[in-house]
Amino acid sequence: MKEIIENQTAILDALTAQTADDIEQIRIKYLGKKGLLNALFVEFKQVPNEEKKEMGALLNTFKSKVENKIAMLKENLLESQSNTTGQEDLTKPASLLTLGSRHPLSIVRNEIVEIFSRIGYTVAEGPEIEDDWHVFSALNFPPEHPARDMQDTFFIEEREDNNHAVLRTHTSSVQVRTMEKQHLPIRIIAPGRVFRNEAISARAHCIFHQIEGLYIDKDVSFADLKQNLLYFAKEMFGENTQIRLRPSYFPFTEPSAEMDVSCNLCGGEGCNICKGTGWLEIMGCGMIDPNVLEASGIDSKVYSGFAFGMGIERIAMLKYDIKDLRLYFENDLRFLKQFSSAL
Ligand code: DAH
Repeated sequence: MKEIIENQTAILDALTAQTADDIEQIRIKYLGKKGLLNALFVEFKQVPNEEKKEMGALLNTFKSKVENKIAMLKENLLESQSNTTGQEDLTKPASLLTLGSRHPLSIVRNEIVEIFSRIGYTVAEGPEIEDDWHVFSALNFPPEHPARDMQDTFFIEEREDNNHAVLRTHTSSVQVRTMEKQHLPIRIIAPGRVFRNEAISARAHCIFHQIEGLYIDKDVSFADLKQNLLYFAKEMFGENTQIRLRPSYFPFTEPSAEMDVSCNLCGGEGCNICKGTGWLEIMGCGMIDPNVLEASGIDSKVYSGFAFGMGIERIAMLKYDIKDLRLYFENDLRFLKQFSSAL
């Protein structure tokens, strides 16, 4: 019996299989009711008692070798099938690639840029690491003026001339950069990242995004500002959207205003989102203060202009009903996958 098992082990080791049917034949031959193993177990009963221990062990080892071999043959077969079908059957559809999707903030930024570009605005850029002059002084924030506290600033480097390096707290700094280098008239929007020293919560973040708008020409009036913003509101939130301008204060505009759009969720009736008022605040705006024009060398007796600035996160929250700012920065695929757009 020992000899039979040794011979059969050698035969088993050499076995190969091309098809599932081959494997089934092997299984029947060894493990089937009338198979080799059952026959060996019958014969085992005849083995003299003193040899039973050794033979039993041999037999059991052989049985698990058979089982392992069959499992291995199956695995090899599956592997070779999946390798060859892709190559040989060219009519089969290719496996799908999972495509990424745009970030909701990019979708909304692109949409805003596109809306303004239709009425002649071009995109302008400026650095994220700025200096005091472009973020504050040129925008009519005098030194020590309390309006500087409106925005909690990250200071990067202290400089002797007091023109400290700072992370820009708003994209209004791009207004100054553009006025310095571009010929008049100017009509630009500047999307970008801004930084403020705020504790992170559902409603505040230390990094966020804004879009700044700037229009300077001869005879630009508050009526032009209002018309441009009404056009934007209707394109962004729907034809029936209305706007309202409330007096406000910014150092770089005079007069200054805060713009609200009618709440498109409740149609102005009052709901949770607009806190019962029927209006949603979306941006600051105003006529550029003559001091700001003069600081960049523009003659405020000849030219006038308006500016506006809005937070992209806020617009995206209203558009998609997103309740927590932190979701934008956590890169959770379950969140990001929900947004799709042509832009
Ligand atoms: N820079 C302002 C802020 O971050 C927003 C703003 C208000 C921009 C009025 C403007 C403007 O251009 O005219 O809060």
